[in-house]
Amino acid sequence: MYSPMPADWRETNRRRWDERVPLHLASDFYDVDGFRAGKSALRDFERAEVGDVHGKSLLHLQCHIGMDTLSWARHGASRVVGLDFSERAVEAARELAAEAGLGPERATFVAADVYDAVAAVPDTAYDIVYTGVGALCWLPDIRRWAETAASLVAPGGFLYLAEFHPLTDILDDATGSRIEHDYFARDAWIEDDPAGYTDLDAGYSDEDAGAAGAAATGTAPPTVHNRSVEWQHPLGDVVSALAAAGLRIEFLREHDTTLFARFRALEGRDGVYRFPADRPRIPLMYSLKASKAG
Ligand SMILES: C[S@@+](CC[C@H](N)C(=O)[O-])C[C@H]1O[C@@H](n2cnc3c(N)ncnc32)[C@H](O)[C@@H]1O
Repeated sequence: MYSPMPADWRETNRRRWDERVPLHLASDFYDVDGFRAGKSALRDFERAEVGDVHGKSLLHLQCHIGMDTLSWARHGASRVVGLDFSERAVEAARELAAEAGLGPERATFVAADVYDAVAAVPDTAYDIVYTGVGALCWLPDIRRWAETAASLVAPGGFLYLAEFHPLTDILDDATGSRIEHDYFARDAWIEDDPAGYTDLDAGYSDEDAGAAGAAATGTAPPTVHNRSVEWQHPLGDVVSALAAAGLRIEFLREHDTTLFARFRALEGRDGVYRFPADRPRIPLMYSLKASKAG
């Protein structure tokens, strides 16, 4: 349900994320064993759109357990820094880095709120600031996020964002064709639901999906911290915030595929989900690149 921002939003979300770290490490969704064996955690379109990262420094905001962050290092980034407010996620990321043979000079992880990133990260600026895939919905203030992220982009560098499309937040979970929520809602979306996006093979019910994320009924171990506070961010708000923060939008792409069965009507194939061929499509994800003058 929509609600004014609760004072404890940060602690509420952090507790939820902390508790989910061991579940995610054990999940098929994250496929940590595959990652350990050398598989990249990044999506093909992200790699294609970001381009060659050899010799570049990269900051990943809201890095979770660091698999995406470390994948950029494996693809050639000279130095990666991951930031997340979940200590448990950061500890897991550090362990994965050590296992991958990526020492602190190549891969550093810090525990901090994204709004405190400027003070928390080791360097003043990075060639690439990367974020997304379920990140922005956890932030109440998109302008402050854009200012923070933009300030950490080095001159001549860029920010790259890949996210679930905000249109998908407002449609019914079954068909993805009926408008059920307000696209322009500013209030927080609060849920109390143990389900999570890593339980997908366990089924899916109408009650499961929140305003900004996937969910499914699950066979996962019981969880205690199930409350979440999320926000919708219309596409125009995100783009305008980045432009206002001084970045130049290089592209904004909308994608007809997503990473999980956000709507029951979606069909999964080759690791992505899309509407059946006989259904009109809507954008399910978007990605953008925004650069800073050299
Ligand atoms: C779905 S993950 C996104 C990361 C990555 N795409 C992934 O799937 O592994 C969202 C992450 O945002 C982090 N997070 C949420 N709110 C945050 C905040 N205010 N500051 C820093 N990290 C935050 C959570 O701890 C979580 O690890």
